[in-house]
Amino acid sequence: MGLPVQVSPPQVDLSDLAPSAVPNVDVVAVPVLADEHGPTLGPGSAELVDELGEDLFALLDAASMTGKVGEAVDRVVLDSSGLSNTGLREVLLVGVGAGTSDDLRRAGAVLARRTRGRVSVATSLGALCDDGGLRALVEGIVLGSFEFHWRSGGAQTKPVERVVLAGLVDADARKDVLARALVVARAGWSARTLALVPSNVKNPAWMAEQAAEVAASAQLGIKTWDEKALAADGFGGILGVGQASASPPRLVRLDYSPRRGARKARHVVLVGKGITFDSGGLSIKPRDAMMTMKRDMTGAGVVLSVLGALREVDCPVRVTGLLPLAENAVGGRSMRPGDVITHYGGRTTEVTNTDAEGRLVLGDALAYAVAELEPDVLVDVATLTGAIKTALGQRTGGLFATDDALAGTLRAASLSAGEPLWRMPLVADYEERIASKVADADNAGGVPGAITAALFLQHFTGGLPWAHLDIASVGDSPSDEFEYTKGATGFGARALLHWLEQREPLAGVV
Ligand code: BES
Ligand code: MN
Ligand code: ZN
Repeated sequence: MGLPVQVSPPQVDLSDLAPSAVPNVDVVAVPVLADEHGPTLGPGSAELVDELGEDLFALLDAASMTGKVGEAVDRVVLDSSGLSNTGLREVLLVGVGAGTSDDLRRAGAVLARRTRGRVSVATSLGALCDDGGLRALVEGIVLGSFEFHWRSGGAQTKPVERVVLAGLVDADARKDVLARALVVARAGWSARTLALVPSNVKNPAWMAEQAAEVAASAQLGIKTWDEKALAADGFGGILGVGQASASPPRLVRLDYSPRRGARKARHVVLVGKGITFDSGGLSIKPRDAMMTMKRDMTGAGVVLSVLGALREVDCPVRVTGLLPLAENAVGGRSMRPGDVITHYGGRTTEVTNTDAEGRLVLGDALAYAVAELEPDVLVDVATLTGAIKTALGQRTGGLFATDDALAGTLRAASLSAGEPLWRMPLVADYEERIASKVADADNAGGVPGAITAALFLQHFTGGLPWAHLDIASVGDSPSDEFEYTKGATGFGARALLHWLEQREPLAGVV
């Protein structure tokens, strides 16, 4: 079943012209910077003042603008007949704070929100920034435009159709930066959309179909296991979690190879938790906790979106994406507390809580990667534990890693992408808490919950360099805030792409 037609992100163009000189735009937006001396009008405003014959500083003052990010003040233009742009309808002053990349990403999102429903805007928000700032600005503009709907009458509002980043010193030289920013932003957009699709549509087979479409358009290899193939190959974790659902589980493998040097290229395996709905199973969740559980496949959506973008960012390493997909349902065939499952490769787990299902499917996929794929590095992405939310809140994701260089690179990429990760410890002393009397491990070992979950996964990584992103804290935004729209965030797609687009993503990794 197909989604209703969704809104598209704005088209973004570059221009050397001052924003007030860009023809045929209905909005012009200029930045207001903030420092200890108060607000100052940024580039593009002098030309705008000349055009309008109006004191913009007085406007800024009358609106008590400080230049803080989040502020935006508008001024309607009643008569533009004498201007060089006779289509001008509105002037916007947008706070950009100190103009850091984080500021620009957020200001871009504010601009996108304030221009919804407009046709086009020219802005000098990016006039002074370096390449990192320009990328952040574009990513903010695109993701701040995001909307998802399933209304019979179409989306309620439309993002501005076209944004011209004006006042650039050498617009042509920034084309590659823009292109890359758009690819990364669209990957974030796609991860968010996948997470928002309702679970009556988004079952494991539907996710596998999406993966097939991505594989075709991004020229990726693909292999899909249905429930029979999963049983034949011994994927006991994926099968156990999915066995009560009317929609049987799947495993999808996507393979990306760089065009140049593929034979010698190092190999990264990305694993994304793909629970298409997490009811908790027989250890059922309370109503409120179940409300957001259509998003429990965010990790798989992130990995799928990243794989689909690797060719466009010219990723130099081989990347395999694994999507273990299952619905954790309640029924006569449900896993019971106390059941013992045998994972891919033979490791066993006593299931003391059927709601700790993510680690069961991830364990299978990680074991498969180690046994069959000869990876240099393993990274999994999962909405794994409520505990990581308690530890880090809803704006920072948890990062566990066995390799310091890998942890450092991922953290740096997460910061430049605006999806901050914070490193958490793999405390070996807590191993005893996941010990089972009957099996190799207990799936719900107890507190501290995010760490014991990570320790559970570590046993499936074969001692390879491994990072685990617990994004349960950030998979969901509590409100419309800058580039995040209330609801699913698709968190992780941008961070992983900021990592994998580098010339040497595995530099320093042992
Ligand atoms: N999908 C949940 C984790 C989650 C919680 C994601 C909140 C997003 C928001 C996961 O499968 C789960 O239920 N984890 C349990 C583990 C426990 C039973 C050991 C949890 O965190 O409570
Ligand atoms: Mn669960
Ligand atoms: Zn879950």
